[in-house]
Amino acid sequence: MEFLEVIKKRHSVRSYKPDPVEQEKLAVILEAAMLAPTAANRQAFKVIVIDTNGRKEDLKKIYNPAWFGEAPLVLGVCAIPGGCWVRNDKKNYSDVDAAIVMDHIILAATDLGLGTCWIAAFNLEAAKELLGLDDTMEPVAFTPLGYAREITSSKARKSLDELVIYK
Ligand SMILES: Cc1cc2nc3c(=O)[nH]c(=O)nc-3n(C[C@H](O)[C@H](O)[C@H](O)COP(=O)(O)O)c2cc1C
Repeated sequence: MEFLEVIKKRHSVRSYKPDPVEQEKLAVILEAAMLAPTAANRQAFKVIVIDTNGRKEDLKKIYNPAWFGEAPLVLGVCAIPGGCWVRNDKKNYSDVDAAIVMDHIILAATDLGLGTCWIAAFNLEAAKELLGLDDTMEPVAFTPLGYAREITSSKARKSLDELVIYK
């Protein structure tokens, strides 16, 4: 797919088929995550690949809507803030790094015909406990990964006039 076509095609999918994600596709998506740029190339993140089979109740504790555990996989990006680059005014770039990794995952998945949805409104403590993450790891975002049951897309966006400032 053309790059801009991928960007236009990506939308939040909140209904999934149970069809499995091919291993080859997962491998491409994980490579896209691995190739994400990070501040000072610290690469202080982990991608958690969660098989939803038999885990639906646990997944509900992380994020309640049933569609969260509907796809065969859920991917989570965890920052390791202690390993991330920190600017000299003490701003830690861990969230930015993790967001870029998740965006690579999501755009690569779109390119492969798979559906995703950024999830930030999850229960942090439940995620850490159920995934067995220690305090050095901070889950930043999750996404289901699977085939969309239906394609619903409406790009409600502000106009460029509202979003861009020329100086
Ligand atoms: C950082 C971030 C966090 C989000 N968290 C959630 C979420 O917790 N639950 C949800 O259903 N959608 C979530 N979304 C999806 C947004 O609501 C969605 O991207 C936005 O409404 C635009 O729609 P589109 O993705 O279909 O273009 C999140 C998106 C981003 C970028």
